Amino acid sequence: KKIMLSGIQPSGDLHLGNYLGAIKNWADRVNEFECYYFMADMHTITVRQDPKELRRRSLEMLALYIASGLDPEKNTLFLQSHVPAHAQLGWVLDCYTMFGELSRMTQFKDKSEKHKDNINAGLFTYPSLMAADILLYQPHYVPVGEDQKQHVELTRNIAERFNNIYGDVFRIPEPYIAKTGARIYGLTTPGSKMSKSEPNGCVFLMDEDDVIMKKFKRAVTDSDTENCVRYDKENKPGVANLMNIYSTITGKNFEEIEKEFEGKGYGVFKPAVGEAVIETIAPIRDEAKRLIADKAYLENVYKEGADRANYIANKTLRKVYKKVGFYQL
Ligand code: TYM
Repeated sequence: KKIMLSGIQPSGDLHLGNYLGAIKNWADRVNEFECYYFMADMHTITVRQDPKELRRRSLEMLALYIASGLDPEKNTLFLQSHVPAHAQLGWVLDCYTMFGELSRMTQFKDKSEKHKDNINAGLFTYPSLMAADILLYQPHYVPVGEDQKQHVELTRNIAERFNNIYGDVFRIPEPYIAKTGARIYGLTTPGSKMSKSEPNGCVFLMDEDDVIMKKFKRAVTDSDTENCVRYDKENKPGVANLMNIYSTITGKNFEEIEKEFEGKGYGVFKPAVGEAVIETIAPIRDEAKRLIADKAYLENVYKEGADRANYIANKTLRKVYKKVGFYQL
């Protein structure tokens, strides 16, 4: 079986963008691949976190992974900080990653713009830690949303650089990006990606049905008075985003959606998208709630996940240590 790996930062509550851009894509493929999915908790401290909240979100994320269809019996689900090899390989890869490469990462540029008072070294070297996350498990594919493509490309470059010096140590992974859903925009800000920083336009997976519906009813459509469901990303980005969400969930293409809502207007379209979203995520939310109440079960899952992940990750780490010339213990 080919190997797939990905992770999400528990820096905010999981939202529809994470689900459609990443998790859904993982869950749809679990039977075809050997899968590793983790909570990237070490990445989150590049920005200040409330420790209690970080712990809560890490566990909630694990529950949401499982509720979304990632069976812990068949997939390795774990917390990044439970596998020391991530930090260990991260250091080695820091030494094979160039200052110039890191300076070009758009996520670094965005975040250092946003957190001017805390442009720490971890924020800068974040992509080499992410490269370590990936390369330890020798995956073929890394399923992510559009915004993480640049980091996966950098991972490939780092791996190639290392392999050129030391021989075939790392498999060169490929980003695996869904055709629809890879970039979901905010419902109130269709110009920027959906994210927790704009909570009114962000549908969280743990939101109650009425909250979800309210957010969709208030979604920004367009400023003209056309009131017609038509895909025009340039002039009607809000409508295009809603169509993209609807399409990703129902599997219908844009033409079929235009036909379905012909002559019906936004007053019908927006709640219909809300309804489709609720149908998909309400069962996931309810199952996650049930799992969160079962602490012992979740504890068992992350412990087993950590055991499996440590075993695989250490194999790669030992190889790397040997290659670079560290004396074997
Ligand atoms: P993160 O935590 O920001 O996002 C997790 C995943 O969700 C996707 N995503 C979106 N997709 C579509 N529309 C959106 N609005 C949207 N917002 C987020 C992201 O593309 C991502 O797939 N650096 C990573 C976490 C990470 C990682 C890794 C990923 C750490 N190590 C190793 C893969 C492999 C991040 O910050 O994603």
